[in-house]
Amino acid sequence: MGTLASRELELIRSQFAFGLRERIVTNNAASTQPPLAVWELLRDLSETYENVHRGQSDASITTTAAFEASFDTIAAWINAPSRLTLSMHRSTTEAINAAMYSLMADFRDGDNVVTTLLEHNSNYVPWHAMCREILPRFGRHVELRLARFDRESGELDLDHLASLVDARTKLVCCSGGSNFLGTKPPLDRVRAIADAGAYAQPDGRRGALLLVDAAQLFASTRLDVQAMDADFVAFSFHKLLAPFGVGVLYAKEVLRETLPPFLYGGDMIADGRVFPDRVEYNELPWKFSAGTPNILGVIASAQTLRLIVDLVGADPVRAWFRTDDPLDPAAVDAAMRTVAGHAASLTQRAMDGLCAIDGLHVYGVPRGSERTPLVAFNVEGHSPFDLARALNAQGVESRAGCHCATLAHRDLELDPAASCRVSFTVYNSPDDVDRVISAVRRAVDDPGRFASMPAPVAGAAAATVTSRG
Ligand SMILES: Cc1ncc(COP(=O)(O)O)c(C=O)c1O
Repeated sequence: MGTLASRELELIRSQFAFGLRERIVTNNAASTQPPLAVWELLRDLSETYENVHRGQSDASITTTAAFEASFDTIAAWINAPSRLTLSMHRSTTEAINAAMYSLMADFRDGDNVVTTLLEHNSNYVPWHAMCREILPRFGRHVELRLARFDRESGELDLDHLASLVDARTKLVCCSGGSNFLGTKPPLDRVRAIADAGAYAQPDGRRGALLLVDAAQLFASTRLDVQAMDADFVAFSFHKLLAPFGVGVLYAKEVLRETLPPFLYGGDMIADGRVFPDRVEYNELPWKFSAGTPNILGVIASAQTLRLIVDLVGADPVRAWFRTDDPLDPAAVDAAMRTVAGHAASLTQRAMDGLCAIDGLHVYGVPRGSERTPLVAFNVEGHSPFDLARALNAQGVESRAGCHCATLAHRDLELDPAASCRVSFTVYNSPDDVDRVISAVRRAVDDPGRFASMPAPVAGAAAATVTSRG
């Protein structure tokens, strides 16, 4: 894995607005901050602001070209065979719902879905709703099964997972990286377990389909969907420096060809091929793009990926940002190796410092083992919400709550079902980590001191904010 020298890191940090306000941004597992250059790009896009696939003006043609090229950038970034495998959504959550609605009609009475107690609610609640609320209304009964994890190490219990998968398992849904325990399940083993299921898929294939929630994995590693061999992969750009609003569902092309769309309406139909008695769908990927998409969001997301290669990549001369040049896989690999290496070293530093605090317990993957770049903890006798508020009073942005990993918090019998979490990305520095550790120490040593302290950032109504999930 690559690392960042302090001069390189300073250069990266200078590209973001948060430095101007002295924020210690360590809530990156929820959302990261976009670089200033991306805000400038959005402003410049206003000059040719127009809809896509819906006009003959130069502005529409320019915007359509940039929008379509974004699909190629995103496909290259995750090593998808082509843009035909992609659909754009609002978030990881919507991407997983899209998979659910497209697959739903294919479930037969007596089938099952297997997922895990590690999941974010985004990869549990849709399947819960499908199995327990929607399909029963159509007289179909599909069981939802949950694989356990080891309560000490956070590791997915692969034997238990394997015991749940059988010839009626149509789908296995698994987290690629936990946003609470730091677990990174071995997806090759999960794939093998899904394959061993022997379910008879409609296309003749045997074995369960595999859906990977890659929200956290995408944020901190190079996603290679072909190496992963998952049938569906969901992720969102707001976890890797892009603005809010765009999530992606990757699906193998054979599934894209055969599955029905999630949303129906304009642009997803073949030009003029709508009749009173039948409708013909557009070619891929637009079959899965009903209505006006988040055009600026998609362009900004793809361009943010290009900017990452410029910011942390190894090539000092070549610039990818604001171009549509085919991305070089080696350049993407190198950039994301650096992001991963940097985030891993910060996480290790945080683990070392936090674990040395009396009464502090970190959940999941033990110190020294690979984890997603986040640390979720509780301190005996301290509410995680009070801790997060005390950190905020010291300028450190963390998150207290269940982080939408509600099943895992419940499985650990946490009461309240909550922890305090800090999480790191490419722009964080070792000094940020040290300030997190000192702030936690101070909050634990002298909790009364922060009880009535206002937040340092004007307008951040910290005292009243709670965290849902
Ligand atoms: C593992 C995981 N899955 C899904 C999500 C949901 O992502 P989004 O907010 O883009 O729907 C998150 C967000 O925290 C996550 O960490």
